[in-house]
Amino acid sequence: MADKAILQVGDKKIELPIIEGVDGSKAIDISQLLAQTGLTSYDPSLGNTAICKSAITYIDGDKGILRYRGIPIEQFTAQPKPNFVEAAWLLIFGRLPNKAELAEFRQQLIDNELLHEGIKDQFQHIPADAPPMAILSATMNNLACFHKQFLEVEKPEGLVAAAARLISKVRTIAAFSYRRSRGLPFIYPDPGLRYCANFLHMMFSLPYKQYIVTPEIEDALNMIFILHADHEQNCSTSAVRVVGSARANLFASCAAGVSALWGPLHGGANVEVINMLERIYQGGISPEQCIRDAKDKNNSFRLFGFGHRVYRNFDPRAKILKESCDRVLAKMHRQDPLLDIARRLEELALSDPYFVERKLYPNVDFYSGILLRAIGIPTNMFTVCFAIGRLPGWIAQWKEQHDDTSSKILRPRQVYIGAQVTDYVPMEQR
Ligand code: CMC
Repeated sequence: MADKAILQVGDKKIELPIIEGVDGSKAIDISQLLAQTGLTSYDPSLGNTAICKSAITYIDGDKGILRYRGIPIEQFTAQPKPNFVEAAWLLIFGRLPNKAELAEFRQQLIDNELLHEGIKDQFQHIPADAPPMAILSATMNNLACFHKQFLEVEKPEGLVAAAARLISKVRTIAAFSYRRSRGLPFIYPDPGLRYCANFLHMMFSLPYKQYIVTPEIEDALNMIFILHADHEQNCSTSAVRVVGSARANLFASCAAGVSALWGPLHGGANVEVINMLERIYQGGISPEQCIRDAKDKNNSFRLFGFGHRVYRNFDPRAKILKESCDRVLAKMHRQDPLLDIARRLEELALSDPYFVERKLYPNVDFYSGILLRAIGIPTNMFTVCFAIGRLPGWIAQWKEQHDDTSSKILRPRQVYIGAQVTDYVPMEQR
């Protein structure tokens, strides 16, 4: 197989190296294209561009495969399975932790679960109906003001300490924003509880009544966080990398990830899915009409929770979540009419030529909201839960880029289509 591609521009022929991933996938290295030909490449949504080499997450979109550090995603949800903290360590540090390493990391999470009172006080000045993703992004960035020792992390211990602070505090920030929105007193974290149970405690306990988490609920949330933990170079992760490439600190870079994730085409889709299912349930629209609207090119509506830039097959996370919905709801003795509607929509879409031809399948956001509802998470906190889950992935990607001594500032080019050189016209002559 050729290890070079030949590009002919006019009379000039140049050779471009081909690099290969461990799975045999190939990429043409065009980093010298401009220098050799004076031409840039045009790929507006970066759908055809690898922006880095990465060893964290592997996806085969045609086969519906997802692996974290080589481990198939299915192994994170079948017994014996890791919990979210272990999966986070794996993603960030590249291998499974031993007992001592995991215990130490857990202790660091416990030691850092409180927010500085200065940050806590800021919640009082935020409007009660403020979007929780705005609060999360702003407060995550704000951590840099209170933990300035992590503005530069040059030593490995510094990275561990910064990662532990972020992964621990993100739950507290999320829960406090929810409490603020409901006018409820803040509930401080309980060091005796595990990661997911502690988050639910801060969300739902009352000063006079402890919220008791059941094993099925704890397990379901653990699984949701793990399934969201990384997904290679998606929109929010690329945002983290772009910001991090300027040597911006970890807090600022991850805050950028939260902002990107908020968008309805990305993490915000989990909210849109439930709103869509609710609308169908309330009788505002039928599943058939919903599918017709999604196909109508004069209508901006999309079937939320469907389609993916990389998967042209079932998203393996959606498969796991769909199965879990049945299992978890049955264990909790709950029924959710929205689950039946979701199944009906999936059935309609997967037998419709529009979706079949475009290879549009349910993605992670299609069924996750139904599980989050069953856990008791309010809809406007769904994307926040996605962010809590995705944080280890952002940190892992930031670290990988930071550790790569050859990495440079990310600075794309453009094809300029604006005005040619024009003279300034004074106000009175316009
Ligand atoms: N409903 C209707 N049509 C769709 C949908 C959809 N959900 N998704 C893609 N299409 C159509 C699109 O209109 C286009 O049609 P045509 O070829 O006739 O112009 C074709 O399929 C290709 O779509 P695209 O927009 O070029 O694909 P993309 O790779 O740029 O976008 C996507 C991927 C996820 C943004 C898109 O599928 C979408 O908007 N889905 C709905 C939002 C959603 O569920 N987002 C969550 C993504 S997964 C988790 C995450 O990243 O957070």
